[in-house]
Amino acid sequence: MNRKEAVALLKKHVKTDRIYRHSLAVEAAMIAYAKKFGEDENRWGMLGLLHDIDFEEYPEVHPAKAPELLADTDFDPIFIDTILSHGLNPDVPRDLMERKALHAVDEMASFVIAVALMRPTKLEGLKAKSVKKKMKDKAFARAVNREELINSMEEMNIEFADHIDTIVSGLKEHEAMLQAEGTSLLG
Ligand SMILES: [Fe+2]
Ligand SMILES: [Fe+2]
Repeated sequence: MNRKEAVALLKKHVKTDRIYRHSLAVEAAMIAYAKKFGEDENRWGMLGLLHDIDFEEYPEVHPAKAPELLADTDFDPIFIDTILSHGLNPDVPRDLMERKALHAVDEMASFVIAVALMRPTKLEGLKAKSVKKKMKDKAFARAVNREELINSMEEMNIEFADHIDTIVSGLKEHEAMLQAEGTSLLG
């Protein structure tokens, strides 16, 4: 399945802009980590793009319905299991790097965008210390579990500044591609 087909499939199940944009942000961050680790950028990007495919239709069982929605695709069982491994209490252990990465960028990619949206220059020049400051501000994006942001990053064995720099560069690169297509991560 190519990216265009994956986007079409995602749009069949995700109608809200919020979840769609979140999927693109996680895709961007996963591609950045695939590059950093010398992994398959296409695969990691697809994991990000499709990880929340069942969230809108089946929020109470998410991500358990994802395998059904991806049944007619050519993704392998390990890919499907990686999608099942994200979230707070997964049935699949996060034992592969692609699983640790998906978990670590899931909330953080959207948190970084929320921080960028508060700045005049958006993602340009966005540094880890600005993100850290907003993480300490309990009123900002209050639904995001700070502890989980840190724990998931530590499971990857990555430093905070490195984590944020990787995500920001991935978001910037993806934003340029999306803008050329007439979309934006930044609303
Ligand atoms: Fe999710
Ligand atoms: Fe997500």
